[in-house]
Amino acid sequence: MSNIERIGISVESNLLEQFDAFIAGKGYPNRSEAIRDLIRSALSRQQIQNPDSCAVAGIFLVYDHHTAGLNQKLNDMQHSQFYHVIASTHVHLDHHNCLEVIILKGKTGEIQKLADSLTSVKGVKISTVNMMAVQPEGHPHSHGD
Ligand code: NI
Repeated sequence: MSNIERIGISVESNLLEQFDAFIAGKGYPNRSEAIRDLIRSALSRQQIQNPDSCAVAGIFLVYDHHTAGLNQKLNDMQHSQFYHVIASTHVHLDHHNCLEVIILKGKTGEIQKLADSLTSVKGVKISTVNMMAVQPEGHPHSHGD
């Protein structure tokens, strides 16, 4: 890490006690790491309010395998938005239900629009969308070392 700044904050002892219990439950090694994550999370939540900010998202769809043409329709919709769809996985949950997990990237507003169009298709029973803001200037990187 570079350009680290140290800050001191004042917190009521009662609030700090609750925070320490919270981060212990989450497994954080120290307060600094927990506070950094909370700051990043708050900034990310604020960023995704802007429809032009860059984001990645995971869409989870549970749908009825027996609904005529639904599988093809969902597939066609992903193909037409291929520049947003990074990956997708299909799992056969049981005799009737399929789970599709679709990973997307792009501008927040575009991702939300695609997510809405996928989740509103007839036959899709349950859906969730989880979106995170990312830095637009991010470069591909390796995990070699
Ligand atoms: Ni299936």
